[in-house]
Amino acid sequence: MVKIGIITGSTRDSRVNLQVAEWVKSIADRRTDAEFELVDIKNYNLPKFNEPIPAIMSQDYQAPEAKVWSEKISELDGFVFVTPEYNKGITSGLKDAIDYLYVEWNNKAAGIVSYGSTLGVTAANNLRLILTVPKVATVGTQAALSLFTDFEEMRTFKPAPFHEETVQTMLNEVVAWSTALKTIRE
Ligand SMILES: Cc1cc2nc3c(=O)[nH]c(=O)nc-3n(C[C@H](O)[C@H](O)[C@H](O)COP(=O)(O)O)c2cc1C
Repeated sequence: MVKIGIITGSTRDSRVNLQVAEWVKSIADRRTDAEFELVDIKNYNLPKFNEPIPAIMSQDYQAPEAKVWSEKISELDGFVFVTPEYNKGITSGLKDAIDYLYVEWNNKAAGIVSYGSTLGVTAANNLRLILTVPKVATVGTQAALSLFTDFEEMRTFKPAPFHEETVQTMLNEVVAWSTALKTIRE
């Protein structure tokens, strides 16, 4: 069975991100075709990116936190990124978490769950472009949540029920592509 990491996309103390990531995990846990793990980038305490050599050239990471992060991403076959939108892009915390590594991401699949006042779709498209370089294949189906209608007072996550079916369809694609891509890494 493939292992899929549900990656958080915000690290600020007052984030709503974890509520969304935990909801995705609860939907994923109804499945029996893959293992799912919530991977909270905040727990890895990655410093602001400061590596002297890009990960595409060397995996001799200077930051000890990056070594731990590398081990986690290496274990996983696919991902679901749960991303908010900050000024039309992803957060600097998520960007750093991606930038720290290279081979650990290679030839794996990902789905995206986005949210924001404009559903986070611009951030999601930004993330799709970023992920092309470390060779992460992003599936088409995406859950896009509104800060105005899927949250109470923009703080408490109360998603419209129809999003669950979208998440399951996205997970169908992520599991299928993660399984297929595992064969080319072996
Ligand atoms: C610096 C900043 C910029 C933002 N820019 C956007 C934006 O461009 N588009 C959008 O839809 N929401 C934007 N928002 C609203 C966020 O989507 C909203 O605050 C959300 O709760 C952030 O996710 P988090 O609470 O998990 O960190 C922005 C929020 C912040 C803090």
